[in-house]
Amino acid sequence: MTFMTENSALLSPAAYTEAVTTAVAASAAYYGDGTTPLGDDEYDGLLRAIAAYEEAHPDEVLAQSPTGKVAGGAVQGDVPHSVPMLSLDNVFDADELTEWAAGLERRLGHPVAGWCVEPKLDGLAVAARYRDGRLVKVLTRGDGLAGEDITHAADAVVGLPPVLTEPIDVELRGEVLLTTAQFEEANRIRLAHEATPFAHPRSGASGTLRAKDRPYRIELTFFAYGAIGLDDLGHAALLEKLAVLGANTAAGTAAAPMRCETVQQVQERIDVIAGLRAGLPFGIDGVVVKADTAEDQRQAGNGSRAPRWAVARKLAAEHKVTRLLAVEWNVGRTGIIAPRAVLEPVVIDGVTVTYATLHNPSDITRRGLMIGDQVFVYRAGDVIPRVEAPLADQRTGAESPIVFPEACPRCGDAIDTSEQRWRCVRGRSCQAVASVIYAAGRDQLDIEGLGGTRAIQLVEAGLVKDVADLFTLTREQLLGLERMGETSAANLLAAIETARGAALNRVFCALGVRGTGRTMSRRIAAHFGSMAAIRAADADTLAGVDGIGTEKARVIAAELVELGPLLDKLQAQQVGTQVTEPQKPAAAADPADGGEGGGGADSAGGPLAGQAVVVTGSMTGPLAVLSRNEMNELIERAGGKASSSVSKRTTLLVAGEKAGSKRTKAEELGIRILGPEEFAVLVADLLPTP
Ligand code: IVH
Repeated sequence: MTFMTENSALLSPAAYTEAVTTAVAASAAYYGDGTTPLGDDEYDGLLRAIAAYEEAHPDEVLAQSPTGKVAGGAVQGDVPHSVPMLSLDNVFDADELTEWAAGLERRLGHPVAGWCVEPKLDGLAVAARYRDGRLVKVLTRGDGLAGEDITHAADAVVGLPPVLTEPIDVELRGEVLLTTAQFEEANRIRLAHEATPFAHPRSGASGTLRAKDRPYRIELTFFAYGAIGLDDLGHAALLEKLAVLGANTAAGTAAAPMRCETVQQVQERIDVIAGLRAGLPFGIDGVVVKADTAEDQRQAGNGSRAPRWAVARKLAAEHKVTRLLAVEWNVGRTGIIAPRAVLEPVVIDGVTVTYATLHNPSDITRRGLMIGDQVFVYRAGDVIPRVEAPLADQRTGAESPIVFPEACPRCGDAIDTSEQRWRCVRGRSCQAVASVIYAAGRDQLDIEGLGGTRAIQLVEAGLVKDVADLFTLTREQLLGLERMGETSAANLLAAIETARGAALNRVFCALGVRGTGRTMSRRIAAHFGSMAAIRAADADTLAGVDGIGTEKARVIAAELVELGPLLDKLQAQQVGTQVTEPQKPAAAADPADGGEGGGGADSAGGPLAGQAVVVTGSMTGPLAVLSRNEMNELIERAGGKASSSVSKRTTLLVAGEKAGSKRTKAEELGIRILGPEEFAVLVADLLPTP
């Protein structure tokens, strides 16, 4: 099928008829079960092409044409609305909006006395009738004149109060949607009940409002943006009143409705809301611009489909239809084998999407996906794009089944399929080689002589399954390996022996805990002081470490539990147990400086006490041998706080050769700058002996 674009013109009556048929079918599906054979952008483009053709050929307009009809004429209901529920006209860019505003002002014969700009919530319009302040009926928009009774769904709708704070007769109007969190929760519940997950929040909201006999409850959210019966209020004042009555509005959100005096201010607010879109906790598909005063609204009046005093400035859709080209199976660090969709590249909200997550194998089966399918791809916020539903009715017969791996794609061993998420039976050891190389690295255990080739050799010989096994290696075992002579074996064993006494932060870093790198490992080590204390920490305690938020704390806590057996093995080998980390005094544990940097150990004394130090450029002289991580460790041993970026809190910059922008910035800020040699003198007592 060909999708129309905004600019495509329909050249023949046949093309026009086909376009009308496609649009009517798409609209019926969209307002019916919430599925959609067209992305929102394609549907809008199609409607514009139809409207353009009808303008040029007014005598050929088909009766079933969706133009000029609420919901494209797709839906009907049986409960008449008190006042028609209108739709909104759309504009697609700043110029069209300016033109629309100028048209409205021409019609009024005077400038609009203020605008109100608010998010266009991507859900379903409902009317909620209250008698004496009690909720008596909830209706969908239907065809705008009559809607469906969905009163049964009201208790699951957050923000739609059963009783208002005043005993009045009023009809609230607004949007019901699934917030991003509610959508995730809804799909968790659906999966637990073996029901197909919702393709996107809007179809989830649509299905949930209509459903009657579900064995589970899915929570939705109401946002009020209008009312019948409070007609004298301007729009901004009306929204305030709705909140006072107890209804939820967008007022508390980052995209809160805002009064603007000029069209220029309106445009700026639209840009702000568009920029916030990705981070909002609910979906929006545009920004609504309304003449604010009741007087301007009354004077402008309503058309049959939409008011003349309001318009929707549409934003590009966050979901698109594209083709599923292949499925890749990747083995994660913990041995989880996760499917990933390879897509025909598609631009969603300004970002080209080529890969999307497919959750897990049973999810693929449940969705009935096939290679070659047209699929619905969804991207909200910074969430990884995901493939939702296949458009099964678009199949050509050329689609092929998705082949599931029979063995671990990394190591070839068996797959444990007993859980929803498949996992290599070797778990973390599937990645043994990579983890051992990482652990032996210069900034971790710094085991010289244990590079890639040796690590592979040791793992393949079955001598090493994880980093703890390194500490059990014997001279005889090593000598049994190819290309391993007496000297190499002795050197390697000596390097391993040294690593046994490595500082806690290095041992911790060597574990490769998700969400922690070198800096974070230093902070954690400095905060807790011993591996036992780290292991005893729960997520709440971990969140007390500078730079660890609640989400990261949860990940680290879960990782530590999973690493339990490895940590036991390391402890048995006395790795990281002899040396404890000097702990930060509790009072200094959370310095006002929230900037990036290592947790300062021993901040009470030392030549750099109280200093915030940044290192840049390449080190020379006695510091030339130190990696950046070792420099940072040195700074912290000297009582300072190491950071990677220059800010006004920085007190000292160590600038080596080829120092660039950090030096310039430090100069601008008047920060003290030392060369590597000068700095080496300052910390001479703490330098490793050559
Ligand atoms: S005002 C008479 N305000 O968008 C005024 N509508 O595409 C008509 N919508 O049917 C509606 N957010 O379902 C209005 N802040 C908002 C909205 C909004 C979402 C929906 C509503 C409407 C549709 C039109």
